[in-house]
Amino acid sequence: MKILKATAISPANIAFIKYWGQKDAKLILPFNNSISMNLDNCLTTTTVAFSDQFREDSVRIKFYNSAEKEVDGKQKERVITQVNRSREQIGIKLPAKIVSHNSFPADAGIASSASAFSALTLALVTALGIKVNKRELSIFTRLGGSGSATRSVYDGFVEWQAGKDSQSSYAVQLHDEKWWDLADIVAVGKDDQKKVSSLDGHLIATTSPYFAARQTELPQRTRGIKEALITKDFLKLGRLIEAEAVSLHLVAMSSQPPIFYWNEGTMQIVQALLAWREKGLLGFFTMDAGPNVHVICRRQEASQLNKRLRQLSSVKFTIINRPAKGARLVKKHLF
Ligand code: PMV
Repeated sequence: MKILKATAISPANIAFIKYWGQKDAKLILPFNNSISMNLDNCLTTTTVAFSDQFREDSVRIKFYNSAEKEVDGKQKERVITQVNRSREQIGIKLPAKIVSHNSFPADAGIASSASAFSALTLALVTALGIKVNKRELSIFTRLGGSGSATRSVYDGFVEWQAGKDSQSSYAVQLHDEKWWDLADIVAVGKDDQKKVSSLDGHLIATTSPYFAARQTELPQRTRGIKEALITKDFLKLGRLIEAEAVSLHLVAMSSQPPIFYWNEGTMQIVQALLAWREKGLLGFFTMDAGPNVHVICRRQEASQLNKRLRQLSSVKFTIINRPAKGARLVKKHLF
């Protein structure tokens, strides 16, 4: 019996500069560079095995508060497309078994695609013995469909350079996870069902009349975020992160058809953060493609902010994250 097996673990990330809209939907080429921080409490572990003992390809997923279950339909298709891409690289046809466990709840409304596709891709290339360097891994991960996953390949604070074509669109590390002791408190709302996926959002982003304006502003904001990361200027970082979040959601809300990710709970948290800031407690908001608010703060303020966030009526629970390492291999397999 021939069995090829590997297991990888990888973090989700929160974007400080967001990827929204694709220049090329097939190659997943973005219009702009994006920057993110990896999250140490939002992890996916994935074991991949290829064997002639398996009858067919199978994919099983488990979230923190639910049982492991077989997935099918579109969810399975996305995974198997990446499996096929890797099988084609070395010309084998062995069936694959994929098992994936998430450390965060399914209802957290945190996109698991970044952690999922980066862990999956690292496990795939390792199991099949495909030799790739980090840059090639980030390109291969990007082709899996979740562009933000390309940033989870590297440790800490990462930039995805948009590039001009597939070979020039990859992530690079800006700073490792120990560089700056920031925290991201994810405030998970009570009504947190994400209704429009980022996949669909990217496709219609350019229909917003504000898309072009956003692209014009982005180089300066991106430079500003990079400077704030270098100089550890927290106030500057916070202001730019918030401006960026509003810019992305403005585009989403004005696209055709419009996408409204924010809900009442989102606004309650934003208003609370602004009021606490007036009194000197500093937490800055950002949101990805959903209503949950990510509160970016310094370590010394994290527990006070967390306590207050949990008292808000719209907050179901919170997850405190520190900057994390990127995708890596582990010896312990899930099966
Ligand atoms: O990588 P995707 O296709 O899940 O898109 C991610 C989109 C945002 O989370 C809103 C922004 C980002 O850069 O992560």
